[in-house]
Amino acid sequence: MSLNSFDARHDLVVGDTSYEVFRVNAVPGHEHLPYSLKVLLENLLRTEDGVTVSADDIRALAAWRPDDQPHHEIQYSPARVIMQDFTGVPCIVDLATMREAMSALGGDPARINPLSTSQMVIDHSVIAEHFGTPQALRQNTDIEYGRNRERYQFLRWGQGAFDNFTVVPPGTGIVHQVNIEHLARVAFTREVDGVLQAYPDTCVGTDSHTTMVNGLGVIGWGVGGIEAECAMLGQPVSMLIPRVVGFRLSGELPTGATATDLVLTITQMLREHGVVGKFVEFFGEGVARVPLANRATIGNMSPEYGSTIAVFPIDEATLDYLRLTGRDEQQVALVEAYAKLQGLWHDPSREAEYSEYLELDLSSVRPSIAGPKRPQDRIGLDEAQRVFRRDVADHVSEATRPLETEIDGRPVRLDNGAIGVAAITSCTNTSNPSVMIAAGLLAKKAIGKGLRRKPWVKTTLAPGSQVVTDYLTKAGLIEPLAALDFDVVGYGCTTCIGNSGPVLPQVSTAANDNGLAITSVLSGNRNFEGRINPDVTMNYLASPPLVVAYALVGTMDADLTREPLGIGADGEPVRLADIWPSEDEIEQVVSSCIDPEMYRADYADVFAGDERWRSLATPTGDLFAWDPDSTYVRRPPYFEGMPAEPEPVEDITDARALLKLGDSVTTDHISPAGAIRSDTPAGQYLLEHGVAPLDFNSYGSRRGNHEVMMRGTFANIRLRNQLAPGTEGGFTRNFARPEAPVTTVYEASLDYRAAGVPLIVLAGKEYGSGSSRDWAAKGTLLLGVRAVIAESFERIHRSNLIGMGVLPLQFPAGSSADSLGLTGEETFAIRGVEGLNDGSVPETMTVVAAGPDGSEVSFDAVVRIDTPGERNYYVNGGIMQFVLRNLARD
Ligand code: F3S
Repeated sequence: MSLNSFDARHDLVVGDTSYEVFRVNAVPGHEHLPYSLKVLLENLLRTEDGVTVSADDIRALAAWRPDDQPHHEIQYSPARVIMQDFTGVPCIVDLATMREAMSALGGDPARINPLSTSQMVIDHSVIAEHFGTPQALRQNTDIEYGRNRERYQFLRWGQGAFDNFTVVPPGTGIVHQVNIEHLARVAFTREVDGVLQAYPDTCVGTDSHTTMVNGLGVIGWGVGGIEAECAMLGQPVSMLIPRVVGFRLSGELPTGATATDLVLTITQMLREHGVVGKFVEFFGEGVARVPLANRATIGNMSPEYGSTIAVFPIDEATLDYLRLTGRDEQQVALVEAYAKLQGLWHDPSREAEYSEYLELDLSSVRPSIAGPKRPQDRIGLDEAQRVFRRDVADHVSEATRPLETEIDGRPVRLDNGAIGVAAITSCTNTSNPSVMIAAGLLAKKAIGKGLRRKPWVKTTLAPGSQVVTDYLTKAGLIEPLAALDFDVVGYGCTTCIGNSGPVLPQVSTAANDNGLAITSVLSGNRNFEGRINPDVTMNYLASPPLVVAYALVGTMDADLTREPLGIGADGEPVRLADIWPSEDEIEQVVSSCIDPEMYRADYADVFAGDERWRSLATPTGDLFAWDPDSTYVRRPPYFEGMPAEPEPVEDITDARALLKLGDSVTTDHISPAGAIRSDTPAGQYLLEHGVAPLDFNSYGSRRGNHEVMMRGTFANIRLRNQLAPGTEGGFTRNFARPEAPVTTVYEASLDYRAAGVPLIVLAGKEYGSGSSRDWAAKGTLLLGVRAVIAESFERIHRSNLIGMGVLPLQFPAGSSADSLGLTGEETFAIRGVEGLNDGSVPETMTVVAAGPDGSEVSFDAVVRIDTPGERNYYVNGGIMQFVLRNLARD
């Protein structure tokens, strides 16, 4: 119950229903606030309790000034938590473990229960093993169920054991697309103490692309799984009131440019500007001309440009989308009435104040791709061949040679740039009918001209919801896509999360034996090294129609704007322009083939699942009965021997560097999501437990098993550790042994643990960028790492490290491990940790590094515990321990 200090409570009547709302205009100063901060203001008004949220917090938010640097901490309570299964399974594993720990502390295990609406969409597990056949979907689904049965049974247990927790079964769609098409309500309603409240739909998600829902005006962003668990348990998310960047849109997209080109352009602009940790808000008269699907595509890639959110205000386009996707009229009317009452309705004539400004004239957007390893490295399509030829030198050795081989009895020649994977994938684009239909139309025209895909290209289509298949079918576009072997391979993330399955064996040979730079082209949002496929070294992001076009050409070493894509059945060259669909053609299909009934029908029974799901045997009971033989779901050791009150934290002494890393080490490098190789510690563990390599499944699907995940930490095949030069993958110098040999990171960690040696990691800039991945922090902890010293951190990973009790420190401004002369061979001490015990957070801690030759380097590292709440988590050994102790005390 809110204290309502500002007399903000109000009744809003829509149709026959009255809703209790909290009006932001009750607070002086609200007028100048950007959209996103008004949503936060409402959140504080409604949750004001005088303890967690005070009237001063509300005043501080209303008094926000555009040039403020973030300094005031607020406690924000999202309406929903949304998860995908890779990150969601460990959340439910942790909640199940917390129930047992609660019992051990003498509390009631049933207190461990989601208080907020918690939804999980199972989309990350399907792998495109089979492709190019109408049976691919069934075959891949069979394999998915065969491999993931234990996880799925566990989730079905969770659905029964926990309140407020629903699961969207596998084969339905991709989490963010299901979110915008069905789960998001824009205006949320809930009965609180017998009163029906309406308030902005807000969420946090265990996936960084949760921001896709920002396209609907819903404030939501990705958090680590551990923070999500706490949000599920009713704990607010601690945050500093951010800076807000206003992004003015004007003009209209030109013919030939797609939503994908737009978002690649925006990604490059915002990366160059620097929006990490900030809110981005779109405004201006151009907003109305950005279709909702394009807004969602732009929101989706917020983590690629680094902002916390990238939100559009609510307007007619939002309402139209809600109607199109089958939401009921009362809900649509509530969204409109609520947004207008709260000043959340877009009015281009009234501008809020922003901290920084950016502008894009949409008419300047050109067809683009991005790569070969970062989404912000946009390349104009007409430059793609030149830039590929420039970049390929970094990815091949001089010994590279073309491979003459046969595929399906026909001779082929593979050279650098050969496309091993062409994937229409990722909710970023599959949610956007215009680009999906453009892909289908382009395929239809290509087939009409007699073109075929090149035989070495693995071609996949993974729709983000069944509605996509419905409208492609209705438009007669599924057949031409299938004729080019873009058959549906699954309803899930597939290639976007690295589940591309194997490339053709000949392509694998070309990569591994001939050293060729094999490429992929995908309509995804991430292309970090090692993510898409172990045999692919250069990855390019492109719109779905360009993915189809590149599959026809078969190589990135081609200029699609000048050279023909191939020779048609009539012997004439066929150029991209000859088969590129016009805006009118696309619009005609969109308007005639998509209707609300499709969405209503496909989502009518969304939580029930198909026969396969319903027939899974489901365990019951408040506590989960762990299977000691399971290689998928195991009880993690976080709470073992945990006392009811935390011990004081201590300085770190005699520590060793487990790794010394360069810049831009991503969470993919720290905790890979893709394939598990037999010759890695994780692969060895699975072999020892009787799992055949064919059944290894991916790291992502094994996240419910800490034994696999800690062995996989720092095991990305592309990770380069400067302590073990010349190696790639999870290797390091093992100073726990007298001769300091090179061993796997995992083996070294075992030796250090046996010798009682604490560990640190030295890193460069943007440490932990990439997907939110709690295992990057959990695995780090389980290997025995106590502190990470980096030049800078990505936002979520830094907070996840604290959430697991690992100390994030930053080198003094302008310095790095190299500039300080650190080699990683030193013995380290970190002094000042004990200062946290008195309730304060010191600005710096002293790091002393003693070299093997007796030299000593000392520097003051900046403490990146940024809020008082984070200090509490750290001194408790992590956020889960903090929450558990509080609940046990209650
Ligand atoms: Fe979307 Fe899955 Fe990629 S959620 S962003 S398709 S990993």
